[in-house]
Amino acid sequence: MNQTVFRAGLLDGQVALITGGATGIGFGIAELLGSLGAHVFIASRKQEHLDAAAASLEKQGARASVVTVDVRDADRVKTMIEQVQRDRGRIDILVNNAAGNFYAPSESMSANAWKSVIEIDLNGTFFCSQAVFPVMKAQGGGRIISISMTLHYRGWPLMAHATAAKAGIDALTRTLALEWARHGIRVNAVAPGPIPTEGVRKAFTPPSAGGVPDVFAVERALEDYARKSIPLGRWGTPADIAGMVAFLASPAADWVTGSIFVVDGGEWLARGQSRG
Ligand code: HXC
Repeated sequence: MNQTVFRAGLLDGQVALITGGATGIGFGIAELLGSLGAHVFIASRKQEHLDAAAASLEKQGARASVVTVDVRDADRVKTMIEQVQRDRGRIDILVNNAAGNFYAPSESMSANAWKSVIEIDLNGTFFCSQAVFPVMKAQGGGRIISISMTLHYRGWPLMAHATAAKAGIDALTRTLALEWARHGIRVNAVAPGPIPTEGVRKAFTPPSAGGVPDVFAVERALEDYARKSIPLGRWGTPADIAGMVAFLASPAADWVTGSIFVVDGGEWLARGQSRG
């Protein structure tokens, strides 16, 4: 990120742990929090993603460390928290961003397919929040920010697992906010609208008609969707989500907890209405 409205050094001396922080939205969050002075720990299952992301963050002048974790494994999550704590002595900000999903019809979704997404999205968010709690409690406070979505507000065909998991994250956000406020721990969530990551681009890739591939077809399809379906007229970027995360991590949000902020250009509100 080249420019930001946040003041330089806003998060100096703070430690932020971002699950799924090596790619997509998570990486955008790591870039912004790192540029504001936080020491960012990015966590991922894949070492190759971590290495590339850390190199990029360091090139941008951020202090970055990496940790491999599968957030489905509660013991491994505990070890990760201990590792960060041992290394930096504190954890001020936890961003529960790791998620996985795919489109699948409910009638034929395997038990393992259901379980995989619930475990990554919902269990992972709970395990990381629970493991960071004693650290934040001991240091007198902290901020937990989880990445939700908007597709469960009305339901979204072929996404039973992800919509159920994200609805659970919303519930967890409110409950943990109430339980942990007395320890100075603020718990909030951000619900992103459509961000054209690789998965989304794939969904907008028309089937090959043979012959020379139309390299602009995806861009046109994306633009058409934005014009028709997103009131603010454009797709989101990881930086749009990162801005809300930075706000929630900052003292400007000192009286904000248990809240879920939609950042989607108005998309979910307008869903089902055609803008012509
Ligand atoms: C049907 C599928 C499937 C698919 C996996 N499964 N992909 N079923 N359609 N496309 C089933 C498998 O068959 C298997 O069940 C079970 O799910 C577990 O699959 P594995 O590949 O063994 O699991 P694992 O390696 O742990 O992978 C986890 C994953 C995978 C979630 C399934 O997709 C993943 O790692 N994704 C990470 C990246 C990702 O999804 N990012 C998206 C985040 S974006 P069986 O019965 O065969 O054993 C985001 C925004 C969403 O969240 C916005 C949506 C519009």
